[in-house]
Amino acid sequence: MRAREIAGGIYRIGANITNGDLFEGMWAIPDGVSLNAYIVRGEKTALVDLIRDWDDAPMKIRDQLASISVDVKKIDYLILNHLEPDHTGWLGMFRDLCPGAEILTTVKGAALVKSFYGIEDGVRTVKTGDTLDLGAGKKLVFVEAPNVHWPETMLSYEPSAGVLFSCDAFGSYGSVGAELFDDELSAEGHAFFEKETLRYYANIVAGFSSFVEKAIAKLEGLEINIIAPSHGILWKENPRTIISRYLRYAAYAKGPAEPEVTLVWGSMYGNTEKLVEAATEGLKESAVPVHVFQTPHDDISRILAAAWKSTGLIFGMPTYEYKMFPPMAHVIDELGRKKIFGRKVFRFGSFGWSGGAAKDLAEITAKFNWTFIEQVEFSGCPGSADYELVKTRAKELAGIVKQSALQ
Ligand SMILES: Cc1cc2nc3c(=O)[nH]c(=O)nc-3n(C[C@H](O)[C@H](O)[C@H](O)COP(=O)(O)O)c2cc1C
Ligand SMILES: [Fe+2]
Ligand SMILES: [Fe+2]
Repeated sequence: MRAREIAGGIYRIGANITNGDLFEGMWAIPDGVSLNAYIVRGEKTALVDLIRDWDDAPMKIRDQLASISVDVKKIDYLILNHLEPDHTGWLGMFRDLCPGAEILTTVKGAALVKSFYGIEDGVRTVKTGDTLDLGAGKKLVFVEAPNVHWPETMLSYEPSAGVLFSCDAFGSYGSVGAELFDDELSAEGHAFFEKETLRYYANIVAGFSSFVEKAIAKLEGLEINIIAPSHGILWKENPRTIISRYLRYAAYAKGPAEPEVTLVWGSMYGNTEKLVEAATEGLKESAVPVHVFQTPHDDISRILAAAWKSTGLIFGMPTYEYKMFPPMAHVIDELGRKKIFGRKVFRFGSFGWSGGAAKDLAEITAKFNWTFIEQVEFSGCPGSADYELVKTRAKELAGIVKQSALQ
């Protein structure tokens, strides 16, 4: 990856993380993730966001800085929009290399600079509307965007070129190749990043959707020519696309979402599994798209992405020790943490003794504002009547989903 000038005197530098690690220690990134940082050069030089010492990223960043004749020791300002270590892990070493670079961050950011890195000197706190003049017509204006997705988060805006350095907002998973901008991607590339934007949103940002809406409202009035996030591709042909996409994702939070259904199933001995097909057939007959996952086999990050955009949720699971099948309890817990509320829900499953999963599911999701249609439970192996009933119920759910989904 090379440094790339994205507007006059503004460069994107970055590294793809492809070493097989999980993002935040838990989310699969089989296609990598990019860490994007930016150089803004006036008479003074600012580095916007940092990187983590991860998969050789510092070496790559240093080479790219050298390629645009930026001496890392002579950077004047380091803008920390967000303190999560994927963007700051290298801060201690950076400070050693360039002790003169003043750090600009929010008040809450400064507290984290101290607690994570023990740095207190040379830190300037900024708030919404504050400006850093870099000379030669270049400026940075700061906009606080708390809780997108950490409390200290801010965005930085360069008015002369209309570049918004949005940090995690408008970001996505996926390594970035030579095609850096939206207008350089093939249709396939767009489809890939759209999918990875949704998965990133569902995993990282979803629980903070009301704050996403507030942050986007603050951008009104800014002339944005380029959106430059800290992960994924940059938007210049149509920056509105990614803003609208994020607004639509944020709207899914309380439900309804798209006219789609996510079906998650888990089964110990195959009895519950026998009715997965009955449910998918019922949905197919109603022409409602369905995303099917098995737990614990399938990756939770993908389950969350599908559930985030689905108005309907179906769970197939048996009872285990008087409660839900434990891997499903984990899925339900994650759906709650990400605030996947206001969904239309159906569950079916086998039991052996006296059941318990139905009650457990109802109790745990009591605050999710989920509307359940009657759960179908059966003892042991399902019969043909159970098959028909699950199919009928799935069709019923499909009808409700179609009626109530977002337009
Ligand atoms: C470890 C274990 C715990 C179970 N706990 C319960 C229970 O608390 N209540 C119940 O009604 N059945 C319980 N069962 C019975 C299962 O729910 C039953 O075997 C069911 O058919 C399993 O569905 P599956 O084939 O889809 O895994 C338990 C089974 C196992 C193996
Ligand atoms: Fe973050
Ligand atoms: Fe990040």
